[in-house]
Amino acid sequence: MPPRRDDRIILHFDYDCFYASVFEVENPSLKGVPLAVQQKQIVATCNYEARRRGLQKLQLVTEAKKTCPEVVTVLGEDLTKFRDASKELFQYLRSFSWNERVERLGLDEVFMDVSDIIAYNMGLLNYNDLRTAFFNMSRSDPTVGFSFDASVPAGHTFPEQVLPLAEDEEQHWSDPVFIQLRLRLHLASHLAQHLRLLVEKEKGYTSTVGVSTSKLLSKLAGNVHKPSAGTTLMPPYADDLQDDAGIEREKSNVRLFLSNYEVGLIPGIGHKMAHALRSFTLGREAAQSVELNYHKPSESVTVSEILKHPDANPIAFERLLSGHGAQRGIGTRVWQLLNGCDDSDVSQARDVPRGISIEDSYQKLEKLEDVHDELLRLTCSLVKRMRVDLVTDIEPRILDRVSHQKNEPQQRRWLARPKTVRLSTRDRFSSATNTEGERSWARTSRSCPLPSFIFDLGQSVPSIAEQFVTGTLENLFRKLHPDRFCLSLINVGVTDMDNEIDIRRGRDISTMFKTQNDRLSGWRIDTEIPQAMEKTSINGKSMERSDTMELYGSEEDMRLSQSSTKEVESLWQDEDEVDTLDDVDCTLCEAKLPAFAMAAHLRFHRLDS
Ligand code: TTP
Ligand code: MG
Repeated sequence: MPPRRDDRIILHFDYDCFYASVFEVENPSLKGVPLAVQQKQIVATCNYEARRRGLQKLQLVTEAKKTCPEVVTVLGEDLTKFRDASKELFQYLRSFSWNERVERLGLDEVFMDVSDIIAYNMGLLNYNDLRTAFFNMSRSDPTVGFSFDASVPAGHTFPEQVLPLAEDEEQHWSDPVFIQLRLRLHLASHLAQHLRLLVEKEKGYTSTVGVSTSKLLSKLAGNVHKPSAGTTLMPPYADDLQDDAGIEREKSNVRLFLSNYEVGLIPGIGHKMAHALRSFTLGREAAQSVELNYHKPSESVTVSEILKHPDANPIAFERLLSGHGAQRGIGTRVWQLLNGCDDSDVSQARDVPRGISIEDSYQKLEKLEDVHDELLRLTCSLVKRMRVDLVTDIEPRILDRVSHQKNEPQQRRWLARPKTVRLSTRDRFSSATNTEGERSWARTSRSCPLPSFIFDLGQSVPSIAEQFVTGTLENLFRKLHPDRFCLSLINVGVTDMDNEIDIRRGRDISTMFKTQNDRLSGWRIDTEIPQAMEKTSINGKSMERSDTMELYGSEEDMRLSQSSTKEVESLWQDEDEVDTLDDVDCTLCEAKLPAFAMAAHLRFHRLDS
């Protein structure tokens, strides 16, 4: 077990009924009515008024209308407004961070590591007068902040009953480790509440917040009270809670908190792993029903039931789970998660994504003409997205101090230029098999250098897309599918960012040069698989990357074929094992080269011309 790292404080924000809230913020008259956001035939989400009347996320629209005929449905297939709202909220929360450790998970969740803000405020706390404390939100301006009562946590707690810390009660203060963690969590719960209410007041979005010392625990704590609430997981956290005589003094609240969780609800344990763990614990194949959108366990197995199994240990889990397409070390990772231990860091916020990709899923795509049309549509979205995320306006006073490309309009400039394009597909005829010899629905992909005309801001998006599809993507497609195909998914993505000078609006350029290395270090190693947890909607809940590596079954395909276009911001979907970024084709001479050699190779072509 790695160290618990309870010296950290991590907040997890999850916006309530996010897509529905975006519509409500746009049109407040929708607030009082039952509202469902429709994507194809499915209710992607619905507001809490609709939930009170029996509607659920991910049910069929026809069923929703039967349950609640007065439901108002709005179309949510174009994700632009959700993405924009998500970015705006993220930037807002980020503006309160001191260490920039702020990480988005999917569109509606944000982790914030606020350990430094809490440590600073612990230093200012008057232990003799906890009730009238002041929380400093700024290191430079002592007037920025809020008054609070540090003797009690704000909002809900787990467990629910928590006595206030009284300054004069000796027993509270006898265990310095416990008291330090407890006080830090009190402070964090007030900060979480303050931020949550600010997001509501300033931006119009309510959210649920979880407060703890890891991503795993803060995310789970937040789920306890929804909507518009905060929950703090109270200490003791550690396991070795025995007095000198070896008698257990108190139970770890982490263990208590996780013990009754159904294993499939633990983030990072996908449905296949959960099913394997259930079957392992029961000693037979666990029953499950396959519903429209995901495998629903018809038999629940809790975390404590698994851990009580005499053979439960990391090595047994490794044997059990490594055959399911997961990475090496999965047994240890799952063992840690079930024991409430997650040492993963909240990653540093970045100004540009590591990669951008657009994908859509289909019942079946069998004709080249249809593929052409789809590639065109996806490429148009991709180029538009690149122009939003990777292009910046330059202040005139900065403009004359930096070089810019001749054919670009003077006031706009690329912040970063991806070097590689990758086309991925999922083919129903794919004969790939996983390690257990089962048929796999994994993606296959091909990559090549991204042609430079993509960056021409003077050309229209459709004209760039047409040129790109006929000149590049169709070549990649033919290599991927020289024969017959029947596609259930296409993904077009760009990655391998070549960062330009980091020019942001209004930023002083000399400071920028000084801090450039620090600020950009987070996305230099951009071909690495991102560590961040990523949301997919495959089985209707957040999952870690290890889950996305699981091989898709036909039921997921069915679900995906009904879901809407998805955008995956941090590449890549690493279930691809057929072709990797190490092996890319030069579009000019068709040479196969390792990705790292491609830039030099292209310079050679440029010299040649
Ligand atoms: P969630 O956070 O799961 O749901 P929510 O924010 O709508 O509701 P809650 O109050 O319970 O947190 O997902 C965030 C958004 O992602 C949701 O508004 C719609 C979208 N979504 C999908 O597109 N596909 C999915 O499978 C799920 C679960 C959500
Ligand atoms: Mg949500």
